[in-house]
Amino acid sequence: MNQDDLKALVGKKAVDWISDGMTIGLGTGSTVRYMVEALAEKIKKEHLTITGVVTSKETANLATSLGIPLKSVDEIDYIDLTIDGADEISSDFQGIKGGGAALLFEKIVAKNSKKNLWIVDQSKLTKDLGNFPLPVEVIPYGSEKIFERFEAQNFAPTFRTVEDGTKVKTDSENYIIDLHLKKIDDPFKLAKYLKQQIGVVEHGLFLDTVNTIIVGYPDGPKIFEA
Ligand code: A5P
Repeated sequence: MNQDDLKALVGKKAVDWISDGMTIGLGTGSTVRYMVEALAEKIKKEHLTITGVVTSKETANLATSLGIPLKSVDEIDYIDLTIDGADEISSDFQGIKGGGAALLFEKIVAKNSKKNLWIVDQSKLTKDLGNFPLPVEVIPYGSEKIFERFEAQNFAPTFRTVEDGTKVKTDSENYIIDLHLKKIDDPFKLAKYLKQQIGVVEHGLFLDTVNTIIVGYPDGPKIFEA
């Protein structure tokens, strides 16, 4: 089984957590794609009434094309369950997200959810966070100054760019600065520091967020309760 097979495995498994009448947060990324496709099939087969709340334009397009009814987070009371991917999960169940640049909406949706379920292949599990570059979403105005501040902190920042060197823009028209930290000793301290920087909109540390994790292994999915 390759990595994509493992993503498909957990994506399809995740819909077991969804039942009739639920409002579901729909994450972003290649693993979530399998879940959204499986959800659309489940809705049709079992004639379910489900409302989706998306975390990106990418997922909105996919869900709409598959006929899943959507509402904005401001139109609902709460989200029963959000199912999302992750870029890195530490042994104490803290996470880095935002590899797909959707961290801001992902965090808003996660914070308005009663439960959060993450679906990952086995490669996403690590002892400590930080090997995966930590995404920080920043407002374009003043972003060079924030970048310099991150350099001074030895955070090894890089602006996320596309192939021609243009800076990536998020769904909210902001930039992403990736911090190449290698190892994050104190994620809570770093999260606090980042939130204090004027111009930082959000960062990819998802701390004390997840309730349940489905991990894809070649011999099947394993479930962890945080
Ligand atoms: C999107 O911004 C991310 O948080 C994704 O959830 C994360 O990058 C996982 O993506 P994959 O499922 O594509 O690995």
